[in-house]
Amino acid sequence: MRSVASAPGKVILFGEHFVVYGTKAILCAIDKRITATSQFLDERKIRIKSKLGDAEFDLDTSTNPEFISNKFMKPFLHIAKEALQEFNENRGIEITLESDILAGIGLGSSSAACVATAASVAGLFSKRSKEEILSRSIESERTVFEDVSGADSSISTFGGLMSYSKDGYEKINSKNDISLIIANSNQIHNTKEVVLKVREFKKKNERLFAEMCEQENKLVKDALSAIKENDLNKLGSLMLKNQEMLEKINVSTDKLDLLIKEAVKTSYGAKITGAGGGGCIISLVDKSNLSNTLENLKKISDCFVAKIDFDGLRYSR
Ligand code: PMV
Repeated sequence: MRSVASAPGKVILFGEHFVVYGTKAILCAIDKRITATSQFLDERKIRIKSKLGDAEFDLDTSTNPEFISNKFMKPFLHIAKEALQEFNENRGIEITLESDILAGIGLGSSSAACVATAASVAGLFSKRSKEEILSRSIESERTVFEDVSGADSSISTFGGLMSYSKDGYEKINSKNDISLIIANSNQIHNTKEVVLKVREFKKKNERLFAEMCEQENKLVKDALSAIKENDLNKLGSLMLKNQEMLEKINVSTDKLDLLIKEAVKTSYGAKITGAGGGGCIISLVDKSNLSNTLENLKKISDCFVAKIDFDGLRYSR
């Protein structure tokens, strides 16, 4: 028996970094997915297969340092072990991960992999509600990063658009047909490092940073009404304002600036998505400016078109 589940990646439309200090952010699930396929093994092993490498963990000896020290594998091992224990199952599990999304570029691939794996493994025993899968996914992510906010797993589980703050998430009821062009700077970024850099900036500029948080709150509020009104011109100009703020806190790079400069020539607006210091930019387009924006960005980056994914977590067999 095979159990298959998939979950989408995400972009941050507004509010990255400032969300760490209590403002709201707006997240959007994209139509690029991670698929997890699970099946029982007769041997008491957990086996993970993915493009990032394969690994095997022996449940009886429980000693495979290579596996345990491999951060990428930890959440999947956690999910599989917990499920076997909970259901008193004496076999092993093999999990195969397939991805439409490159890892480590701020598009939420690790959270999507955790959501898809939690659902696919649960499906071997009994299906679970989305809320239960979400909490298992966040729990598994915490084996790697204790302070994870849960935002990425939440948007991946429920799909669509969502506002997120430390107080929790709220679904945005919009069926907008937004198209984004995502362009990769091909600069590797480390979210934790960039977040620490912003913390240093804040320490040195407490007053300015507090003002910026206020501005971000207002920006997110305006963005929520622009989404409601489907006003792409307004949404695009708010994205540019948000980008200016990200530049002020020094999370942009020359390459990201160059991509944005190119994107805004033809699109409604563009900004970094995620931590910055590398990773990707997003550019807001519709039918009228999609192909020329894509053509221009293609000359200087790896880029693709993404639409909103409204499904979130999906099961299939
Ligand atoms: O780079 P990403 O997609 O993991 O986004 C990080 C978002 C931050 O606001 C910078 C950090 C956070 O935990 O919210």
